[in-house]
Amino acid sequence: MAATQANPRAGRIEVARQAEARKIARRSFLRVSVFAGLTLGLGSWIVGFLGFFNRRKPVGFGGVVTVIKASIPPAGADPARISEGKFWLSNLLGAQGDVFQVGGTGGLLALYWKCPHLGCTVPWNPNFDGGAVNFPGIIGWFRCPCHGSTYSRAGVRVYGPAPRPMDTMLLSVNSDGSLSVNTGKITLGGPDNPLRAVSYNG
Ligand code: FES
Repeated sequence: MAATQANPRAGRIEVARQAEARKIARRSFLRVSVFAGLTLGLGSWIVGFLGFFNRRKPVGFGGVVTVIKASIPPAGADPARISEGKFWLSNLLGAQGDVFQVGGTGGLLALYWKCPHLGCTVPWNPNFDGGAVNFPGIIGWFRCPCHGSTYSRAGVRVYGPAPRPMDTMLLSVNSDGSLSVNTGKITLGGPDNPLRAVSYNG
């Protein structure tokens, strides 16, 4: 201040210098803001773009689930729970599970584990005695814990309030003995469930 009073010209120069400095700072701020906005916008677009393709090719439930050969149960063994795809993999030995004798000859079935009644997850009960549901001599059934619907190892409903057999998923055998199960391709369960089994020779 003393210098400004002492030399008015120096004071004006100092004021002009400060004004210029403020202008430069404002321009820099605007430049940074625009750059940050563009970066954010581009980032969101990339995330959306990748998300779109991800939805087109889902993994896990809703997409194609691969079951390696070692995870396929032997014919006649208890069904295997494939959690990734929310299904049971049943390997029927001959007419096993074909409780109403529609002509099943065995093979692999991917049974959606969602109960067709009210959607509870249906577990496999290896010890349940079919005598309790008028099928004596057959041990091992799918049995819904919610209202008791009971299904053979081919998913055929024999007891309870479920309106139909368990639903099935599209299953194909790969050249290396593994399976591809399309969990997005679900067919409503029907009396023909045993006929939908896909033959498998390992
Ligand atoms: S939800 Fe399975 S029997 Fe009701």
